Amino acid sequence: MARNLIRVLEGESLSPPPVWLMRQAGRYLPEYRETRAKAGGFLDLCYDPDFATEVTLQPIRRFGFDAAILFSDILVIPDALGRDLAFVAGEGPKLRPLQVEEIERLDPSLAETHLAPVIATVGRLRSELPDETTLIGFCGAPWTVATYMIAGHGTPDQAPARLFGYRHPQAMEKLLFLLAEMSADYLIRQLQAGADCVQIFDSWAGVLDEASFEAFAVAPVRRMVEKVRAAIPGAKIIGFPKGAGALLSTYRQKTGVDAVGLDWSVPWSQAKAMQTDGAVQGNLDPLRLIAGGRALEEGVDRILEALGDGPLIFNLGHGITPDAPIAHVEALLKRIRG
Ligand code: CP3
Repeated sequence: MARNLIRVLEGESLSPPPVWLMRQAGRYLPEYRETRAKAGGFLDLCYDPDFATEVTLQPIRRFGFDAAILFSDILVIPDALGRDLAFVAGEGPKLRPLQVEEIERLDPSLAETHLAPVIATVGRLRSELPDETTLIGFCGAPWTVATYMIAGHGTPDQAPARLFGYRHPQAMEKLLFLLAEMSADYLIRQLQAGADCVQIFDSWAGVLDEASFEAFAVAPVRRMVEKVRAAIPGAKIIGFPKGAGALLSTYRQKTGVDAVGLDWSVPWSQAKAMQTDGAVQGNLDPLRLIAGGRALEEGVDRILEALGDGPLIFNLGHGITPDAPIAHVEALLKRIRG
């Protein structure tokens, strides 16, 4: 019997829908903070199969989500390219900013060895997870990964990467193609090691105009989907082009992903229309989870009313934040599952 989240990716409608939360292993959990302190830095956690397995399993033990997501980060790909990734407490990621002349010299040949501990974690997870729990692998979409590589840190609107794309379109295409090839290989290895499906996070798709969205968000992801499916026919893939608005409606058809993740700004009518050709995932405002009470219950109920009779994976519209009360996560699950 296929795991329930995979059944939804195949187009089935389940009631109650399967549920997991983006960033479900994280700082809102005391057991995560404890393991992270033991590991030392955040990257030490990502590259240690014992610690990474442990923190991936923590939210499954505590809440019984329908899916576990591999504990890692989208920025392990630039790290594997030698971009000097560091996580500075309270400041987020820092990398050596990428100059246009360096793109020719980026060398993916060390990636397989560099990422081997993450692949080992995937294998460990599949053998330690309950049989019914879906294991989700992931990576960042080339555009979102490129935004951090170019700026060297997070920015409010990814202006450095957008300007880079306008000033150096060929170099940008080259960079995105290299990241697409590397990321597809990485997803293939995750699927071979035991991931049931994978999610491609394009957290910064929403800052692009229509032409750039096609070139920088759609084309590289389509290339990845083709490459992954050429190696693993029928591989199940969720795409999450956060903030893409009206451009979400054709994303599945243009990229070939099985399901589309929706942020909380997506209207019910648009989400409902998207369910006619496959599953959608989302899209509770993470702040409803912080507020709890009526705001949480109404948010859950509206999603279930609007989308619950079609193929739906219940999730937040973006990651859970460190201030989320555990009691509210419990209330969310109770509301969904009855
Ligand atoms: O969802 C999960 O539980 C799996 C683990 C996961 C993490 N990051 C762990 C993490 C996943 C899927 C990601 C994806 C990721 N990482 C994205 C795409 C999704 C999104 O949130 O938009 C992005 C843009 C990143 C890059 C990144 N990693 C940033 C900007 C930051 C700093 C911001 C912050 O919350 O501190 C991180 C750090 C990070 N990645 C943490 C976790 C649990 C917090 C680090 C810590 O423990 O100190």
